[in-house]
Amino acid sequence: MKFQDKVVLVTGGGSGIGRAVALGFAQEGATVVVAARRREPLDQTVKLIEAAQGRATALTADVTRPAEVAGLVSEIVRRHGRLDIAVNNAGVFTMGQVADIDEADWSHTLDVNVTGVFLSMKHEIAAMREGGGGVIVNVASQIGAHKRIPGLGAYAASKAAVAALTRTAALEYIREGIRINAVSPGPHDTPMSMRPGETLSDRDDRMKAQLPIGRVGTLEEITASVLWLASDDAGFAVGHDLVVDGGSTA
Ligand SMILES: NC(=O)c1ccc[n+]([C@@H]2O[C@H](COP(=O)([O-])OP(=O)(O)OC[C@H]3O[C@@H](n4cnc5c(N)ncnc54)[C@H](OP(=O)(O)O)[C@@H]3O)[C@@H](O)[C@H]2O)c1
Repeated sequence: MKFQDKVVLVTGGGSGIGRAVALGFAQEGATVVVAARRREPLDQTVKLIEAAQGRATALTADVTRPAEVAGLVSEIVRRHGRLDIAVNNAGVFTMGQVADIDEADWSHTLDVNVTGVFLSMKHEIAAMREGGGGVIVNVASQIGAHKRIPGLGAYAASKAAVAALTRTAALEYIREGIRINAVSPGPHDTPMSMRPGETLSDRDDRMKAQLPIGRVGTLEEITASVLWLASDDAGFAVGHDLVVDGGSTA
């Protein structure tokens, strides 16, 4: 029960890594708030947490919209009195070589992955300052600061920006008791790890050939990394960017 009675926000908590991380915090005693645009997947996460005797609620918010992010954080503080931990995980994956990237796709990728993290941190930090401290874990990617792959320019640019923003904010707020880090996953077992038209076994064959470890990461593995960064065990980790990628960037 490492997170007993902690109030935790997980953005993008309706699927994939966000859902797994939300379940992980709830299993360790946290009160979890999951947020994303669509209500139904969020409700599903809440059901899964409640079925495991955990505590969770769902709030819809689009992380690209300043008023919705401000409203999300103030609603959490109104309901629970504070915000202890935030995992800024909401993100989108887009493909296309630089000369072919549609301007709208470029803007959307940066809006969600960068502006979304910026707006989330802006309001989370304000709430955590009021509450006397907190912890933030931003979900970046191995693609970006650590690795570049042709066809992933917009995604790489957005995630490199998350890594840089994380480190800057970490320096700015550690003296106020707000500890900020990033996790940079390699391919994990969510729909985002699939290329268009791929089956699960196509993806697994691609991973076997591409990744030193020969497989995608499990949701349990990435959850453990996020929970570690958020825990007191990682109390001296500040502005760290934890790469969890099966050796892809070793
Ligand atoms: N899976 C991987 O292999 C992998 C590898 C490296 C990094 N990552 C990163 O890990 C994070 C989660 O990835 P995933 O694979 O779990 O993705 P996913 O299954 O597609 O989940 C993405 C989540 O983000 C939410 N979201 C998207 N746009 C949003 C917006 N504008 N406002 C609020 N929420 C929004 C989605 O819900 P709604 O659509 O309902 O809003 C969903 O809950 C992402 O940041 C991704 O870049 C994933």
